[in-house]
Amino acid sequence: MLLQSLELKDYRNYQAFSHDFSPSLNIFQGKNAQGKTNLIEAIYYLSIGRSYRPVKEDQLVRWEQKSFLISGKILNRLGVLSLETAFSRLTKPAKQIYIGGLKAQKPADMLGNLNSVLFAPEDLSMIKGSPQERRNFLDYDISQVSTEYFQELHKYRRLLAQRNHLLKQIHFGRRDGANLSLWDEQLLASASQIVYKRLQALEKLNPLMRLTQRKLTGGVENLDIKYFLNKRRELKISDDIPGALKEVQRDVLQEETRQGVTLWGPHRDDLSIVVNGMDLKLYGSQGQHRTAVLALKLSELEFFRGESGEYPILLLDDVMSELDEWRRNALIQFIQSKEIQCFITTTDSIGVLGKYEKEIRTYQIQAGQIK
Ligand SMILES: Nc1ncnc2c1ncn2[C@@H]1O[C@H](COP(=O)(O)OP(=O)(O)OP(=O)(O)O)[C@@H](O)[C@H]1O
Ligand SMILES: [Mg+2]
Repeated sequence: MLLQSLELKDYRNYQAFSHDFSPSLNIFQGKNAQGKTNLIEAIYYLSIGRSYRPVKEDQLVRWEQKSFLISGKILNRLGVLSLETAFSRLTKPAKQIYIGGLKAQKPADMLGNLNSVLFAPEDLSMIKGSPQERRNFLDYDISQVSTEYFQELHKYRRLLAQRNHLLKQIHFGRRDGANLSLWDEQLLASASQIVYKRLQALEKLNPLMRLTQRKLTGGVENLDIKYFLNKRRELKISDDIPGALKEVQRDVLQEETRQGVTLWGPHRDDLSIVVNGMDLKLYGSQGQHRTAVLALKLSELEFFRGESGEYPILLLDDVMSELDEWRRNALIQFIQSKEIQCFITTTDSIGVLGKYEKEIRTYQIQAGQIK
């Protein structure tokens, strides 16, 4: 897939932006706070229909304006397609999406037209942060290549909210526990689907990740991701998933009615990221964290291609800092070895890019404009 061109109107600090891109490597270079990350954010917005940062659409509108527009021309196996998303404080609904000139029903319709893999500094929290951040990584990525998974997640969240509601009523003595088993059957079926899909994705990602990590570290580091049910029991794809979930469900039932919330299911699971047998969260260095997240992201390039038949685009925001020269170089070699379009931001000129042999386009970003 390719992003051929991008147009922005009143998005963040861009009043009006319109440019086309190299099908190979694009570098956004500039001082701090000039709009490099904003550009990456806009491109990612076009691919998933919202920002990856926890912001309201309102905050994306350029100060003192009322609306923003992001539109792009993309090229995928179906040909050239225009994608457009507009947000306005004055219209209802506030958000409008057009795919190939036709109005889309919901933001999720954007998924799959322009797949992208993003590395952002926030992603480092995937290692240090909460289990939810690790689950999100899997959920977002599987959703990009599987609308069924995306819909299953929605269904699961709805069922979960209903079961939680019922648990609260039982907790306060307004209902007895008899109705619970009705919900449990549905919730268990949905939970099993989600856990199975996650394990299936990990099954494919793990060997790719190991290979990428070895490339980025000269064969020194071995990376592995493990899946933990209810943060306790390691689960593999060959295990009896509904059986394992049922077991946890039985264990926590009493506690659930006491607390009034559901204490089992994919919203309670966690991943463990392990390098050379050590838990990265507990023992890894900064550079190791960064390299591992990077390996994870880069391995998604092949994962996405396997699932959708096409390489996604690669967005790397502020990736080079904390990587030593050897690892930077390995990263550049890696990108170069794939037929992908890449967008990378940097505050200084990247010396190692001299070793890049394909077409590079550098854009100097200054105060929301290309110089
Ligand atoms: N809604 C908005 N309207 C106008 N300007 C905004 C808006 N949101 C953010 N900005 C501006 O964008 C700037 C940040 O841009 P961005 O994060 O893209 O910088 P950057 O070039 O990536 O910098 P760094 O090198 O520090 O990462 C902020 O300093 C702010 O002034
Ligand atoms: Mg930035």
